[in-house]
Amino acid sequence: MSTVEFARNLSDHPASDDQRAEILKNPGFGNYFTDHTVVIDWTEGEGWQNARVEPYGPISLDPAASVFHYGQEVFEGLKAYRHADGSVRTFRPEKNAERINTSAARLALPQLPVELFVEAVKLLVEVDQAWVPSGDGEALYLRPFMIATEAFLGVRPSKEVSFRVIASPAGNYFGGELHAVPIWLSQNFARAGHGGTGEAKCGGNYAASLAAQLEAEAHGCAQVLFLDPTDDNAVEELGGMNVFFVLDGNRLVTPRLNGNILHGITRNSVLQLAKDAGLTVEERKFTIDEWRASVADGSLKEAFACGTAAVITPIAELRSAEGTMVLPATGEDAVWRKIREQLLGIQTGTVEDTHGWLTRLV
Ligand code: PLP
Ligand code: COI
Repeated sequence: MSTVEFARNLSDHPASDDQRAEILKNPGFGNYFTDHTVVIDWTEGEGWQNARVEPYGPISLDPAASVFHYGQEVFEGLKAYRHADGSVRTFRPEKNAERINTSAARLALPQLPVELFVEAVKLLVEVDQAWVPSGDGEALYLRPFMIATEAFLGVRPSKEVSFRVIASPAGNYFGGELHAVPIWLSQNFARAGHGGTGEAKCGGNYAASLAAQLEAEAHGCAQVLFLDPTDDNAVEELGGMNVFFVLDGNRLVTPRLNGNILHGITRNSVLQLAKDAGLTVEERKFTIDEWRASVADGSLKEAFACGTAAVITPIAELRSAEGTMVLPATGEDAVWRKIREQLLGIQTGTVEDTHGWLTRLV
């Protein structure tokens, strides 16, 4: 355990039971926030200090804080799930803790002890546990993030940093009921390049995806597929999700971790669950040409997106400047559906957690 003590300054105007119930009827994704936030400050001289839970609210920062100018920021995303016995659990939080540190190292931000990350998440969920929804496919989305707060315009790593966790009740990322989604193929923009920040979870990667996202929206798509134009147009990932393909019904293919794409925790878990189910798993280069050829010859049966926010969402079609490639419709026995049920079952406590992936929070 870490030795950091968290001070508690609880809100004197939390949402009422009625207000919260109204929000939890249809939370959507990322629209509403709970009553509190956890904060831990860091300075070069003192390290991590001043850990506290405080009422959710605006952050007061100097306009010269380097996060505003040079984007020195990293974040994470994980969920807390309500189980039938009333307990609240989260999924592989130590993986998020490890990943924020990998991202932080790339962005020259400080390392946060894994147990402090998990404690911060646990404290926020404990204080705001009434916000954990219990509906089908719903969870409390947790957003830990680290920002450079020093007021200094020289370009160098900030000597002052703030780590925070906020929480937001969440339903389906794509809105409404689960449905197969159309994806836009980005050919004018790449998300990341070799040696860049592609595999870090930093705000800049998402800012870089937004122009492509606007193109996608203009073509009726909610997500963008990015390629590596320097490597035979190898498929990389979506703006906020990893991608999988099912070939011949029993081979699961996903782009290998090439330095540009995020090491998705859902991706890693899907690979494990697929192996458990006896599927052949291939982490390899998968080009857009192979995608098109495998749809044309009928060997591609399914494609799906996966991530904490998206869970597992089937892809209906790939739209691009050249036209639309419609993917086969999938039935009740689709691979994506079985893996989704298995994964969500573990997360929500209806399927045995044989890998020890859950951590109890409340
Ligand atoms: N790729 C990107 C760019 C993401 O933003 C995310 C979401 O976190 C993922 C992949 C999936 O990662 P995870 O499964 O850890 O949520
Ligand atoms: C998540 O799934 O946690 C993400 O961070 C993706 C989000 C940016 C849509």
